[in-house]
Amino acid sequence: GSDGSEFVSELNFNPIPGSLTDAVVVPEGYTAQVLAPWGTPLNRAAGNFQTDGSNTSIDQENAVGMHHDGMHFFPLEDSSTEGLLVVNHEYIDTSALHADGELDAETGAPVTAEAARKQINAHGVSVIRVRFDGTQWVVVENDPHNRRFTGASAMELAGPVSGVGQTITPYSRDGMMARGTLNNCGNGHTPWGTYLTCEENWPGYFFGEEETQTADQQRIGVSSSRGRYGWELFAGDDSEADDEFTRFNVTPTGNSAIEDYRNEANGHGYIVEIDPYNPDSTPVKRTAMGRFRHEGVAYGKLESGKPVSFYSGHDARFEYIYKFESDALWDPADANPTDRLATGAKYMDAGTLYVARFDESGRGVWLPLTLSSVTTDGGTLADTFDSLEAIILNTAGAADLVGATPMDRPEWTAVDPVTGTVYLTLTNNTRRNEETGTNAANPRLNNAYGHIIRWDDDAEGTGFAWDIFVYGSADVDTDGVKVPADINKSGLTEMTQFASPDGLAFDGRGIMWIQTDNGADDVTQYTNDQMIAVIPSQLQTTDGDYETINADNQAQLKRFFVGPNGCEVTGIAFSPDYTSLFVNIQHPGNWPYSTDAAEETPDGVSVRPRAATVVIRKADGGPVGV
Ligand code: FEO
Ligand code: CA
Ligand code: CA
Ligand code: CA
Repeated sequence: GSDGSEFVSELNFNPIPGSLTDAVVVPEGYTAQVLAPWGTPLNRAAGNFQTDGSNTSIDQENAVGMHHDGMHFFPLEDSSTEGLLVVNHEYIDTSALHADGELDAETGAPVTAEAARKQINAHGVSVIRVRFDGTQWVVVENDPHNRRFTGASAMELAGPVSGVGQTITPYSRDGMMARGTLNNCGNGHTPWGTYLTCEENWPGYFFGEEETQTADQQRIGVSSSRGRYGWELFAGDDSEADDEFTRFNVTPTGNSAIEDYRNEANGHGYIVEIDPYNPDSTPVKRTAMGRFRHEGVAYGKLESGKPVSFYSGHDARFEYIYKFESDALWDPADANPTDRLATGAKYMDAGTLYVARFDESGRGVWLPLTLSSVTTDGGTLADTFDSLEAIILNTAGAADLVGATPMDRPEWTAVDPVTGTVYLTLTNNTRRNEETGTNAANPRLNNAYGHIIRWDDDAEGTGFAWDIFVYGSADVDTDGVKVPADINKSGLTEMTQFASPDGLAFDGRGIMWIQTDNGADDVTQYTNDQMIAVIPSQLQTTDGDYETINADNQAQLKRFFVGPNGCEVTGIAFSPDYTSLFVNIQHPGNWPYSTDAAEETPDGVSVRPRAATVVIRKADGGPVGV
């Protein structure tokens, strides 16, 4: 596609209205099938999915995880019908995961180590061998590529926060390894054929007594009451358990880092690289790219002989947008390496991490996060940090000091393959009020609907021009009143209204796909979460009028997909020929009602909602969207 031959100029499907049902909805002429729902066995060690929740932790370790999120399709030998679908599993719905009696009725915590282990194993990432059999996509059970990475899998640490005092644990006395990946939300992929999974809301999985918390633990929000699922509570109740649960308590209790798990959380908060093509490979946490609640990651347009840039948002209210720029210069021969993770090391272990400051003028600056970086009080980061690893460990704290712009919850990033313009979803921020104030890049108080911002880096990479691509909004509010133009800034209609943009991706043809994780009642009264397609016009604003948005963009928005009740629509992948589009349904309320008798209760209804992938195809087998 780099010669432009794949680029399309027009969407060609009939956009669909909103929907409030327990089914997925696609445009006329399209089909949708469910693929690889939570609990689908990947190999012989997994028992069949049980609708009563009785699957074991071993079953779960060998079956598809829960709450599908970011995703990528890796073709085998460039095929569009044979490939590896790699899927993130963000978190768990404990009421759906467990059989009766596995949870404490009062606290909701697992009552046995086995139940806690099942929870940990439902997290992480799945590598799923898939095939189109001529009629539908199927999971190829027992394929050697099938893998699960869980909240307990061994992973390497690479980059500045590797082999240092802060990563030494009883598990890794040289500080080179970490255990598990958690809360894998959005994703990315690399030009050299690897998957990037992003660790988002990991801080709450760890508990540390408040008075012992370090500055970075306080800044990022390690829990001072209880870990998210209470895993740290299982100290000693299982002779096999040793420290598999106590490691989630990061309170120092011993004399050093090899006697307790004070450093356990330092192995989390990263972008993790996985080589799905090599079943023997170990995932690598690329620490140079920063430590925060990584929502997703996308690489900038590649240019031979120039650094490779990776963009990643920190999803929390008033958090920041980051760019990592490689020291190594892009060599197109690296698109087909023999050792993919070695190529990852080349471009992702050494470079400069920057954070964004959006200025009023429609201009912005990438502020480096290095020891010599100037802080807003006139000093440098060396006044606060003694090493690059210390800066990385408290990336958000360092960004505070250099004057980064607090945003309305940065979610996914996507790069236009035609122009190189970078787009990022700002999902919402209802805590932006008179006290916190607005800024040019986040101009709405009580931002319940969210917006999408975009920028073009300058040639030297340290400055950029930006504008706001589209503002989310309802057309009509819950009282039936037309939303005024100063709030519905993009003039969205019944057919284009959306809120809380989250998942975001370009396909190689230049079509951008916007997915929602909706929190605004004004929109949820009209439609479930959805996916909208658009072919954006080019960034217009370099003159400071940040409220000027290109009306052409809004005219092109077309609703392509609506999910079932209760779900979030997230994650997107394509077969290389664009005839299959993969989308994930996360935390559905009831869906999918099964037609497979083995999965039905006596009254004919599947008792457990199951996150799953949906594959959308054109009935005539042609490329989707056009
Ligand atoms: Fe897990 Fe920010 O969505
Ligand atoms: Ca998300
Ligand atoms: Ca979200
Ligand atoms: Ca989610």
